[in-house]
Amino acid sequence: MFAVYAESFSTDDPLSGLVVGERPDPVAPDGWTTVTVKAASLNHHDLWSLRGVGLKEDKLPMILGCDAAGIDEDGNEVVVHAVVSDPNWRGDETFDPGRSLLSEHHQGSFADKVVVPRGNVVPKPASLSFEQAACLPTAWLTAYRMLFTQGGLKPGDSVLVQGAGGGVATALITLARAGGLKVFATSRDEAKRAKALELGAHEVFESGERLPFKVDAVMETVGRATWSHSVRSLRPGGKIVISGTTSGPDVDDAGLMRIFFLQLQVIGSTMGTRDELGSLVQLLDASGSAPLIDRTMPMEQARDGFAAMADGDVFGKIVFTR
Ligand SMILES: NC(=O)c1ccc[n+]([C@@H]2O[C@H](COP(=O)([O-])OP(=O)(O)OC[C@H]3O[C@@H](n4cnc5c(N)ncnc54)[C@H](OP(=O)(O)O)[C@@H]3O)[C@@H](O)[C@H]2O)c1
Repeated sequence: MFAVYAESFSTDDPLSGLVVGERPDPVAPDGWTTVTVKAASLNHHDLWSLRGVGLKEDKLPMILGCDAAGIDEDGNEVVVHAVVSDPNWRGDETFDPGRSLLSEHHQGSFADKVVVPRGNVVPKPASLSFEQAACLPTAWLTAYRMLFTQGGLKPGDSVLVQGAGGGVATALITLARAGGLKVFATSRDEAKRAKALELGAHEVFESGERLPFKVDAVMETVGRATWSHSVRSLRPGGKIVISGTTSGPDVDDAGLMRIFFLQLQVIGSTMGTRDELGSLVQLLDASGSAPLIDRTMPMEQARDGFAAMADGDVFGKIVFTR
Protein backbone atom coordinates (compact mmCIF):
# COMPACT_ATOMS: atom_id res chain seq x y z
CA MET A 1 0.00 0.00 0.00
CA PHE A 2 0.97 3.66 -0.30
CA ALA A 3 2.78 4.96 2.82
CA VAL A 4 4.94 7.81 4.11
CA TYR A 5 7.63 6.41 6.38
CA ALA A 6 10.89 7.00 8.23
CA GLU A 7 13.84 5.02 6.86
CA SER A 8 16.61 6.66 8.93
CA PHE A 9 17.20 9.45 11.47
CA SER A 10 18.99 12.78 11.20
CA THR A 11 19.04 15.49 13.86
CA ASP A 12 20.11 18.25 11.44
CA ASP A 13 18.32 17.14 8.27
CA PRO A 14 15.24 15.18 9.42
CA LEU A 15 13.67 15.12 5.94
CA SER A 16 16.61 13.08 4.60
CA GLY A 17 15.16 9.94 6.21
CA LEU A 18 11.60 10.51 4.92
CA VAL A 19 10.33 8.19 2.17
CA VAL A 20 7.10 8.57 0.18
CA GLY A 21 6.60 5.09 -1.23
CA GLU A 22 5.13 1.65 -0.57
CA ARG A 23 4.89 -0.58 2.52
CA PRO A 24 3.19 -3.97 3.03
CA ASP A 25 -0.53 -3.94 3.90
CA PRO A 26 -1.04 -4.13 7.69
CA VAL A 27 -2.58 -7.23 9.30
CA ALA A 28 -4.99 -6.53 12.17
CA PRO A 29 -4.29 -8.74 15.24
CA ASP A 30 -7.23 -10.16 17.24
CA GLY A 31 -9.20 -7.33 18.81
CA TRP A 32 -7.86 -4.75 16.35
CA THR A 33 -9.58 -3.15 13.36
CA THR A 34 -8.35 -1.82 10.02
CA VAL A 35 -9.23 1.80 9.27
CA THR A 36 -9.13 3.01 5.66
CA VAL A 37 -7.52 6.43 5.97
CA LYS A 38 -9.33 9.38 4.37
CA ALA A 39 -7.28 12.12 6.04
CA ALA A 40 -4.32 12.32 8.43
CA SER A 41 -2.72 15.35 10.04
CA LEU A 42 0.92 16.22 10.65
CA ASN A 43 2.31 16.84 14.14
CA HIS A 44 5.66 17.99 15.43
CA HIS A 45 5.89 14.41 16.77
CA ASP A 46 6.45 13.23 13.16
CA LEU A 47 9.46 15.55 12.82
CA TRP A 48 10.80 14.42 16.20
CA SER A 49 10.51 10.80 14.92
CA LEU A 50 12.69 11.65 11.90
CA ARG A 51 15.24 13.08 14.35
CA GLY A 52 15.20 9.80 16.29
CA VAL A 53 13.31 11.21 19.28
CA GLY A 54 10.68 8.79 20.62
CA LEU A 55 11.32 6.24 17.84
CA LYS A 56 13.94 3.49 18.13
CA GLU A 57 16.27 2.46 15.29
CA ASP A 58 15.16 -1.20 15.50
CA LYS A 59 11.60 -0.07 14.67
CA LEU A 60 12.63 1.31 11.25
CA PRO A 61 11.19 1.46 8.67
CA MET A 62 8.21 3.02 10.46
CA ILE A 63 5.13 4.54 8.84
CA LEU A 64 4.73 8.02 10.37
CA GLY A 65 1.54 9.74 11.53
CA CYS A 66 -0.39 9.61 14.80
CA ASP A 67 -3.67 11.07 13.59
CA ALA A 68 -6.29 9.77 11.21
CA ALA A 69 -9.94 9.88 10.31
CA GLY A 70 -11.40 7.27 8.01
CA ILE A 71 -13.72 4.32 7.65
CA ASP A 72 -13.55 1.22 9.84
CA GLU A 73 -14.17 -2.39 8.77
CA ASP A 74 -17.90 -2.03 9.49
CA GLY A 75 -18.24 1.04 7.27
CA ASN A 76 -18.42 3.56 10.15
CA GLU A 77 -16.85 7.01 9.81
CA VAL A 78 -14.36 7.19 12.69
CA VAL A 79 -11.63 9.23 14.35
CA VAL A 80 -8.62 7.20 15.49
CA HIS A 81 -7.36 7.55 19.09
CA ALA A 82 -3.56 7.49 18.79
CA VAL A 83 -2.68 6.30 22.32
CA VAL A 84 -2.23 2.51 22.36
CA SER A 85 -2.22 1.11 25.89
CA ASP A 86 -1.94 -2.41 27.29
CA PRO A 87 -5.27 -4.26 26.74
CA ASN A 88 -5.29 -5.10 30.46
CA TRP A 89 -4.73 -1.50 31.55
CA ARG A 90 -7.66 0.01 33.44
CA GLY A 91 -8.24 3.71 33.98
CA ASP A 92 -6.56 6.71 32.34
CA GLU A 93 -4.57 5.32 29.38
CA THR A 94 -2.07 8.18 29.50
CA PHE A 95 -0.79 6.83 32.85
CA ASP A 96 -0.02 3.35 31.43
CA PRO A 97 3.80 3.21 31.56
CA GLY A 98 3.72 0.85 28.57
CA ARG A 99 1.56 3.08 26.36
CA SER A 100 2.78 4.31 22.99
CA LEU A 101 1.57 6.56 20.21
CA LEU A 102 0.90 5.25 16.73
CA SER A 103 4.20 5.41 14.78
CA GLU A 104 6.32 4.59 17.88
CA HIS A 105 5.73 0.81 18.24
CA HIS A 106 2.81 0.31 15.86
CA GLN A 107 2.74 1.53 12.25
CA GLY A 108 1.33 5.04 11.83
CA SER A 109 -1.48 6.68 9.90
CA PHE A 110 0.25 8.21 6.83
CA ALA A 111 -0.88 5.32 4.62
CA ASP A 112 -3.85 3.79 2.84
CA LYS A 113 -4.68 1.80 5.99
CA VAL A 114 -3.86 1.81 9.69
CA VAL A 115 -4.64 -0.93 12.22
CA VAL A 116 -5.65 0.01 15.78
CA PRO A 117 -7.26 -1.69 18.80
CA ARG A 118 -11.05 -1.79 18.34
CA GLY A 119 -11.46 0.49 21.38
CA ASN A 120 -9.30 3.13 19.71
CA VAL A 121 -11.96 4.44 17.34
CA VAL A 122 -14.47 7.16 18.14
CA PRO A 123 -17.47 7.98 15.91
CA LYS A 124 -16.87 10.96 13.60
CA PRO A 125 -19.81 13.40 13.73
CA ALA A 126 -21.31 14.50 10.40
CA SER A 127 -20.57 18.13 11.40
CA LEU A 128 -16.82 17.54 10.97
CA SER A 129 -15.18 16.72 7.64
CA PHE A 130 -12.59 13.93 7.51
CA GLU A 131 -9.91 16.65 7.21
CA GLN A 132 -11.14 18.44 10.34
CA ALA A 133 -11.60 15.19 12.28
CA ALA A 134 -8.03 14.15 11.40
CA CYS A 135 -6.73 17.16 13.38
CA LEU A 136 -8.20 15.96 16.67
CA PRO A 137 -6.33 12.89 17.99
CA THR A 138 -3.02 14.54 18.92
CA ALA A 139 -2.90 18.37 18.87
CA TRP A 140 -6.54 18.98 19.72
CA LEU A 141 -6.82 16.21 22.29
CA THR A 142 -3.64 17.47 23.95
CA ALA A 143 -5.08 21.00 24.08
CA TYR A 144 -8.38 19.73 25.52
CA ARG A 145 -6.66 17.85 28.35
CA MET A 146 -4.28 20.74 29.08
CA LEU A 147 -7.12 23.23 29.55
CA PHE A 148 -9.91 21.25 31.13
CA THR A 149 -8.38 18.18 32.82
CA GLN A 150 -4.86 19.14 33.90
CA GLY A 151 -5.56 22.90 34.03
CA GLY A 152 -9.03 22.43 35.57
CA LEU A 153 -10.06 25.72 33.94
CA LYS A 154 -13.64 26.95 34.18
CA PRO A 155 -15.68 29.62 32.34
CA GLY A 156 -14.46 33.08 33.36
CA ASP A 157 -10.88 31.97 34.13
CA SER A 158 -7.99 33.62 32.25
CA VAL A 159 -5.37 31.82 30.20
CA LEU A 160 -2.24 32.70 28.22
CA VAL A 161 -1.37 30.57 25.17
CA GLN A 162 2.30 30.80 24.20
CA GLY A 163 3.42 30.56 20.52
CA ALA A 164 0.10 31.11 18.80
CA GLY A 165 0.91 29.49 15.48
CA GLY A 166 1.33 25.83 16.40
CA GLY A 167 -1.28 23.11 15.98
CA VAL A 168 -1.68 22.70 19.74
CA ALA A 169 -1.67 26.49 20.27
CA THR A 170 -4.39 27.17 17.70
CA ALA A 171 -6.45 24.37 19.28
CA LEU A 172 -5.88 25.90 22.73
CA ILE A 173 -7.12 29.31 21.57
CA THR A 174 -10.26 27.89 19.93
CA LEU A 175 -11.13 25.54 22.78
CA ALA A 176 -10.41 28.13 25.48
CA ARG A 177 -12.74 30.57 23.78
CA ALA A 178 -15.42 27.89 23.30
CA GLY A 179 -15.04 27.08 27.02
CA GLY A 180 -15.79 30.66 28.09
CA LEU A 181 -12.24 31.66 29.13
CA LYS A 182 -10.50 35.04 28.81
CA VAL A 183 -7.79 34.25 26.24
CA PHE A 184 -4.40 35.94 25.75
CA ALA A 185 -1.91 34.66 23.16
CA THR A 186 1.67 35.46 22.19
CA SER A 187 3.48 35.10 18.90
CA ARG A 188 6.78 36.33 17.50
CA ASP A 189 5.05 37.14 14.27
CA GLU A 190 2.66 40.04 13.65
CA ALA A 191 0.64 38.18 11.01
CA LYS A 192 0.20 35.20 13.35
CA ARG A 193 -0.92 37.55 16.14
CA ALA A 194 -3.58 38.96 13.82
CA LYS A 195 -4.74 35.43 12.96
CA ALA A 196 -4.87 34.51 16.66
CA LEU A 197 -7.29 37.41 17.21
CA GLU A 198 -9.46 36.15 14.33
CA LEU A 199 -9.38 32.70 15.89
CA GLY A 200 -10.79 33.94 19.18
CA ALA A 201 -7.99 35.36 21.36
CA HIS A 202 -9.22 38.46 23.23
CA GLU A 203 -5.77 40.12 23.15
CA VAL A 204 -2.43 39.21 21.57
CA PHE A 205 1.12 40.14 22.54
CA GLU A 206 4.65 39.85 21.24
CA SER A 207 6.64 36.98 22.77
CA GLY A 208 7.84 38.14 26.22
CA GLU A 209 5.57 41.23 26.39
CA ARG A 210 4.07 42.15 29.76
CA LEU A 211 0.36 41.25 30.07
CA PRO A 212 -2.26 43.73 31.36
CA PHE A 213 -2.89 41.42 34.32
CA LYS A 214 -1.60 38.12 35.72
CA VAL A 215 -3.51 35.09 34.48
CA ASP A 216 -4.89 31.97 36.16
CA ALA A 217 -2.98 29.61 33.85
CA VAL A 218 -0.42 29.50 31.04
CA MET A 219 -0.43 26.82 28.34
CA GLU A 220 3.18 26.01 27.35
CA THR A 221 4.35 24.10 24.28
CA VAL A 222 7.32 26.30 23.32
CA GLY A 223 9.65 25.64 26.27
CA ARG A 224 12.97 27.45 26.57
CA ALA A 225 12.03 30.55 24.53
CA THR A 226 8.90 31.40 26.54
CA TRP A 227 9.30 29.69 29.96
CA SER A 228 10.47 32.74 31.96
CA HIS A 229 7.64 34.82 30.58
CA SER A 230 5.17 32.07 31.48
CA VAL A 231 6.36 32.04 35.11
CA ARG A 232 6.21 35.87 35.27
CA SER A 233 2.68 35.97 33.81
CA LEU A 234 0.92 33.97 36.55
CA ARG A 235 -1.10 35.20 39.52
CA PRO A 236 -0.22 33.70 42.92
CA GLY A 237 -1.37 30.07 42.92
CA GLY A 238 -1.56 30.01 39.12
CA LYS A 239 -0.70 27.02 36.94
CA ILE A 240 1.62 26.36 34.02
CA VAL A 241 0.43 23.35 32.03
CA ILE A 242 3.22 22.11 29.76
CA SER A 243 3.00 19.54 26.96
CA GLY A 244 5.92 20.42 24.69
CA THR A 245 9.27 22.17 24.29
CA THR A 246 9.55 23.09 20.60
CA SER A 247 12.36 25.62 21.23
CA GLY A 248 14.22 23.21 23.55
CA PRO A 249 13.82 21.85 27.09
CA ASP A 250 16.81 23.48 28.82
CA VAL A 251 15.76 26.78 30.35
CA ASP A 252 18.25 29.49 31.41
CA ASP A 253 16.18 30.49 34.43
CA ALA A 254 13.46 28.14 35.69
CA GLY A 255 12.06 30.88 37.96
CA LEU A 256 12.25 28.59 40.99
CA MET A 257 12.06 31.41 43.54
CA ARG A 258 8.89 32.79 41.98
CA ILE A 259 7.44 29.27 41.74
CA PHE A 260 7.68 28.61 45.49
CA PHE A 261 7.05 32.14 46.68
CA LEU A 262 3.88 32.56 44.59
CA GLN A 263 2.95 28.89 45.14
CA LEU A 264 2.71 28.25 41.42
CA GLN A 265 1.90 24.82 40.02
CA VAL A 266 3.79 23.25 37.11
CA ILE A 267 1.71 20.47 35.57
CA GLY A 268 2.74 18.10 32.80
CA SER A 269 0.23 16.95 30.21
CA THR A 270 0.42 14.30 27.52
CA MET A 271 -2.18 13.47 24.88
CA GLY A 272 -5.51 12.38 26.40
CA THR A 273 -7.82 9.45 26.96
CA ARG A 274 -10.29 7.92 24.54
CA ASP A 275 -13.10 9.34 26.69
CA GLU A 276 -11.58 12.82 26.46
CA LEU A 277 -11.39 12.41 22.67
CA GLY A 278 -15.11 11.55 22.71
CA SER A 279 -15.84 14.64 24.85
CA LEU A 280 -13.75 16.83 22.52
CA VAL A 281 -15.68 15.56 19.49
CA GLN A 282 -18.97 16.31 21.29
CA LEU A 283 -17.80 19.80 22.31
CA LEU A 284 -16.95 20.67 18.71
CA ASP A 285 -20.19 19.18 17.43
CA ALA A 286 -22.25 21.15 19.96
CA SER A 287 -20.35 24.45 19.77
CA GLY A 288 -19.91 24.55 16.01
CA SER A 289 -16.16 25.13 16.49
CA ALA A 290 -13.81 23.33 14.11
CA PRO A 291 -10.06 22.81 13.83
CA LEU A 292 -8.16 25.48 11.94
CA ILE A 293 -6.47 23.90 8.92
CA ASP A 294 -3.40 25.73 7.57
CA ARG A 295 -3.30 23.68 4.37
CA THR A 296 -4.57 20.43 2.91
CA MET A 297 -2.51 18.44 0.43
CA PRO A 298 -2.57 14.95 -1.11
CA MET A 299 -0.51 12.53 0.98
CA GLU A 300 1.82 12.07 -2.02
CA GLN A 301 3.02 15.65 -1.32
CA ALA A 302 3.75 14.94 2.36
CA ARG A 303 7.37 16.07 2.01
CA ASP A 304 6.21 19.68 1.38
CA GLY A 305 4.11 19.56 4.55
CA PHE A 306 7.03 18.28 6.64
CA ALA A 307 9.26 21.06 5.19
CA ALA A 308 6.71 23.76 6.06
CA MET A 309 6.49 22.50 9.65
CA ALA A 310 10.29 22.30 9.98
CA ASP A 311 10.49 25.95 8.79
CA GLY A 312 7.79 27.06 11.29
CA ASP A 313 5.75 28.21 8.28
CA VAL A 314 2.40 27.13 9.67
CA PHE A 315 -0.71 28.50 11.38
CA GLY A 316 -3.01 25.67 12.31
CA LYS A 317 -2.88 22.07 11.11
CA ILE A 318 -1.33 20.55 7.98
CA VAL A 319 -3.61 17.79 6.68
CA PHE A 320 -2.83 15.02 4.17
CA THR A 321 -5.70 13.46 2.21
CA ARG A 322 -6.10 10.07 0.45
N1 LIG B 1 2.84 15.96 25.12
C1 LIG B 1 2.02 15.70 24.10
O1 LIG B 1 1.17 14.84 24.15
C2 LIG B 1 2.12 16.54 22.88
C3 LIG B 1 1.11 16.50 21.92
C4 LIG B 1 1.19 17.37 20.81
C5 LIG B 1 2.29 18.20 20.70
N2 LIG B 1 3.27 18.17 21.62
C6 LIG B 1 4.44 19.06 21.51
O2 LIG B 1 3.96 20.40 21.56
C7 LIG B 1 4.80 21.22 20.75
C8 LIG B 1 3.92 21.99 19.77
O3 LIG B 1 3.58 21.16 18.71
P1 LIG B 1 2.72 21.66 17.48
O4 LIG B 1 2.61 20.51 16.55
O5 LIG B 1 1.52 22.31 17.99
O6 LIG B 1 3.49 22.83 16.77
P2 LIG B 1 4.94 23.35 16.55
O7 LIG B 1 5.13 23.45 15.10
O8 LIG B 1 5.94 22.60 17.29
O9 LIG B 1 4.76 24.78 17.23
C9 LIG B 1 5.14 25.86 16.57
C10 LIG B 1 4.99 27.09 17.44
O10 LIG B 1 5.99 27.14 18.45
C11 LIG B 1 6.40 28.51 18.59
N3 LIG B 1 7.86 28.60 18.62
C12 LIG B 1 8.73 27.78 18.03
N4 LIG B 1 10.00 28.18 18.27
C13 LIG B 1 9.90 29.30 19.01
C14 LIG B 1 10.85 30.21 19.56
N5 LIG B 1 12.16 30.04 19.41
N6 LIG B 1 10.37 31.26 20.26
C15 LIG B 1 9.04 31.46 20.43
N7 LIG B 1 8.10 30.62 19.91
C16 LIG B 1 8.53 29.57 19.23
C17 LIG B 1 5.91 29.24 17.37
O11 LIG B 1 5.02 30.24 17.74
P3 LIG B 1 5.04 31.65 16.99
O12 LIG B 1 5.70 31.47 15.66
O13 LIG B 1 3.59 31.94 16.89
O14 LIG B 1 5.78 32.57 17.89
C18 LIG B 1 5.22 28.22 16.52
O15 LIG B 1 4.02 28.68 15.98
C19 LIG B 1 5.81 20.28 20.09
O16 LIG B 1 7.03 20.36 20.79
C20 LIG B 1 5.18 18.93 20.21
O17 LIG B 1 6.12 17.89 20.24
C21 LIG B 1 3.20 17.36 22.70
